[in-house]
Amino acid sequence: MKTPFAQRRRALRAKIAVKGLSGIVSTNPADWYYLTGFTGEAGALLILRKGAALVTDGRFTAQAEEETSGIRIVKQNGSLTSSVGTWLRGLGRGKIGFDAAQISVEQFRTLRRTAGARVRWVAAGGEIGSLRQVKEPSEIAQMRKAALLVGDVLSAALKLLKPGVSEIEIAAEIEYQMRSWGASGPAFETIVAFGTRSAHPHARPSEKRLRKNELVVLDLGVILGHYCSDITRTVFVGRAPARIRRWYRAVQEAQAAAVGAARAGITCGDVDAAARGVLAHYRLDKYFVHSTGHGLGLEVHEDPRVARGQKRVLVSGNVITIEPGVYVPGVGGIRIEDDVAVHAGRTEVLTQVPRNLIEI
Ligand code: GLY
Ligand code: MN
Repeated sequence: MKTPFAQRRRALRAKIAVKGLSGIVSTNPADWYYLTGFTGEAGALLILRKGAALVTDGRFTAQAEEETSGIRIVKQNGSLTSSVGTWLRGLGRGKIGFDAAQISVEQFRTLRRTAGARVRWVAAGGEIGSLRQVKEPSEIAQMRKAALLVGDVLSAALKLLKPGVSEIEIAAEIEYQMRSWGASGPAFETIVAFGTRSAHPHARPSEKRLRKNELVVLDLGVILGHYCSDITRTVFVGRAPARIRRWYRAVQEAQAAAVGAARAGITCGDVDAAARGVLAHYRLDKYFVHSTGHGLGLEVHEDPRVARGQKRVLVSGNVITIEPGVYVPGVGGIRIEDDVAVHAGRTEVLTQVPRNLIEI
């Protein structure tokens, strides 16, 4: 079966050449999978102008041999960073790019010392991320499946919301269903927040039990075939009072405005502004305490960031979340989140769960 990995490495090598680098090192597992198919947890990948090497420890060397092709597998000897440095020293002179956001100061010092003075180190973060953020059609097809699956899990979870059930019970059911229905796991710790706890955008599920007349925020994602999805819906237990309906309408309009704005050629900052503008119109913008969204793919949070002032222009192949919310301390929170794929001339909403206020 033809895999995409060699072609992706070729694309990265073209970038490496433009930057005048001899190679690039990554310690991010999502990058390894993207470029080689390796699914291990520990190691460092070196993509050089000619050739590639994966340094990993004894737990993963056999797996790496099985999962990759065209990559030299180097068994770690001592610490990871000293192994990488020593291997590079053996190659002679070179200029190696690294991502300062991935490597600690201590690791960097070890790399520099063990590689020796003939290897120069250049901060070159974002090169692999800039490839990863433009998805291939097969990646979008997989993300479509991940988005449909998370929607099914969410719809099933809504049926479990009854007064008396606890947040942690709902979260446990959700994560059980994910795996039962084919996901390799949750894309992040499932958020289930009842009542005033929903005013915390990233509340951790607690022992709190659901009562009548409370808001419920459910935010969940699955990993399916390596790719993530991410969805949020908010429901009300009982008949929502006028104030909650108004807030919900504002968030729903803000979300629709941002989805409508998300097109190839538009900056991420403009997508964020579309959501924020609607909430400002409702005088609720001060309660919108996070950014509008984020890139989604092999990782749940990746480039591009959909936040205030972001100049990055959306291109066909980007997949982002759109997830405005309002969070009123002591009262509750409302968030609506969908996953959106940007195509030339159109935008596709991958998550397919209704967005109207659900009262249960
Ligand atoms: N849905 C969780 C997050 O985006 O952080
Ligand atoms: Mn999200």
